[in-house]
Amino acid sequence: MLGIDARFSVIEDRLKGVKRIIAVSACKGGVGKSVISCSLALKLAERGYKVGLLDLDFFSPSDHMILGIKPAFPQEEKGLLPPTIYGIKFMSIIYFIEDKPAPLRGIDVSNAIIELLAITIWKELDFLIIDMPPGIGDATLEIIRAIKRLEFLLVSTQSKLAWESVERMIKMLKQQSIPVIGIIENMKQKDSDFIKRNAKDLGIRYLGAIKFDPGLEDSLSSVEKISKTEFAKWLEEIIPKLLQQEKFK
Ligand SMILES: Nc1ncnc2c1ncn2[C@@H]1O[C@H](COP(=O)(O)OP(=O)(O)O)[C@@H](O)[C@H]1O
Ligand SMILES: [Mg+2]
Repeated sequence: MLGIDARFSVIEDRLKGVKRIIAVSACKGGVGKSVISCSLALKLAERGYKVGLLDLDFFSPSDHMILGIKPAFPQEEKGLLPPTIYGIKFMSIIYFIEDKPAPLRGIDVSNAIIELLAITIWKELDFLIIDMPPGIGDATLEIIRAIKRLEFLLVSTQSKLAWESVERMIKMLKQQSIPVIGIIENMKQKDSDFIKRNAKDLGIRYLGAIKFDPGLEDSLSSVEKISKTEFAKWLEEIIPKLLQQEKFK
């Protein structure tokens, strides 16, 4: 195994053919990071972009379940080649934790993340979507340290309690000069401009709301069914704003 510093330069090399690296992130679990990551990756691929999806949430890796695939270890070729599934290149930390009890001890988590980033061969991509671990703990900081060109796409529910931690996260990202694409308000159930107003006050783009869709749960594990949900329709409306990003830099 290479030393940490050597692995960082390997990671940079591995990601040099990737145009945009989007970290789908939130302070909490259960707010929709994974369904948004998967659906966003699928929708971008439908539009003809070359897309990779990387599940780095080792607390609860779930993208393989949402996509309805059995984890099969990727092919090895001086590194790991992510299999192409529904038009997207897919890689998950699940291949490494398998049935081992999670969470792994702190040091192992960092090592697993760095190792995975250093061995995955993405080649040319327009977008790499990363389903992030929740919050701004060690794992998130490790990913920020390893990937220089990370842009954050934040997800929050409309709860005032959720907002407080989102605010802290935004401040931390700003302090480190990490670009934030904007915030998606997910599972919206009642009319309120609370998140929109607060995002604006912090100078963060409000990308739009995805309402609570009671039909989503039964569609999980079927990409075809997910694509027909109201959830997917609302997400679709947000995508043009994500693609405009260049103009905002
Ligand atoms: N807009 C929505 N409407 C209805 N259910 C949703 C919506 N967004 C997410 N969910 C559901 O909430 C649960 C948590 O979503 P998930 O993507 O796993 O969150 P996270 O990755 O942030 O932990 C899942 O069962 C998912 O189907
Ligand atoms: Mg998740």
